[in-house]
Amino acid sequence: MIELPDKEFLPGHVAIIMDGNGRWAQARKLPRSMGHKAGVEQVRTIVKMSSRIGIKTLTLYAFSTENWKRPKDEVGVLMQLLIEYLKKEVRELNEQNVRFRSIGDRFALPKEVRAAIDEAEEITKDNTGLNLVVAINYGSRAEILRAANTLAEKRAADPDFVIDEQSFSEALDTNGLGDVDLMIRTSGEQRISNYLLYQLAYAELYFTDVYWPDFGEEEFAQALMNFAHRDRRFGTVK
Ligand code: FPP
Repeated sequence: MIELPDKEFLPGHVAIIMDGNGRWAQARKLPRSMGHKAGVEQVRTIVKMSSRIGIKTLTLYAFSTENWKRPKDEVGVLMQLLIEYLKKEVRELNEQNVRFRSIGDRFALPKEVRAAIDEAEEITKDNTGLNLVVAINYGSRAEILRAANTLAEKRAADPDFVIDEQSFSEALDTNGLGDVDLMIRTSGEQRISNYLLYQLAYAELYFTDVYWPDFGEEEFAQALMNFAHRDRRFGTVK
């Protein structure tokens, strides 16, 4: 039996850097692509669990703006896995009342990936359960710059337009999703790597040595229990 925090102590928004697929495969003398494949299985597990236990938003880092620099074959495998996941899973996500959404610059993505994203967003748009957010071709600095440009245009068109924390967060790709409460990174690395820099301002950070393909329900529950015991003060005293 896995122990979980009471619902009121669960994080509303969990963001995950799913790291270590390559090393998981290497440790088993398998090609890196097998690590990514195994990673998708764990995406399924963690999405289902999040939906079941009542997490509001789960944001997964699937492909960064820097990941284009990987060998062409590996980029191809990752794109193919994303397409397969979206196509295969969308019906089940819909049945679970999950609302799918992607963040990142989708216009630079292969047409087929974009089409799969558009379709999954469209099919699940009225769902009210878990928000499943997948960051694809995402980089936080690029997102912040896009927001800054949008706001500059709005201000130029209307000198009364106010640029404050609210309008700024509304101009980000994560508009409406709220700040991250818990950020998890697997595989022993302790970095943020250009992920949700603005949205992580008050997030609790959780690092584990477990590689992503081994990060299952038990490991996720451990991270949630750890979060539930944190003393969050948001800069104030109690
Ligand atoms: C990091 O491991 C992982 C990635 C760059 C890709 C994550 C993608 C998936 C788990 C599959 C697709 C996602 C979805 C949502 C269906 P790494 O390759 O950097 O591992 P390493 O540091 O050990 O080399």
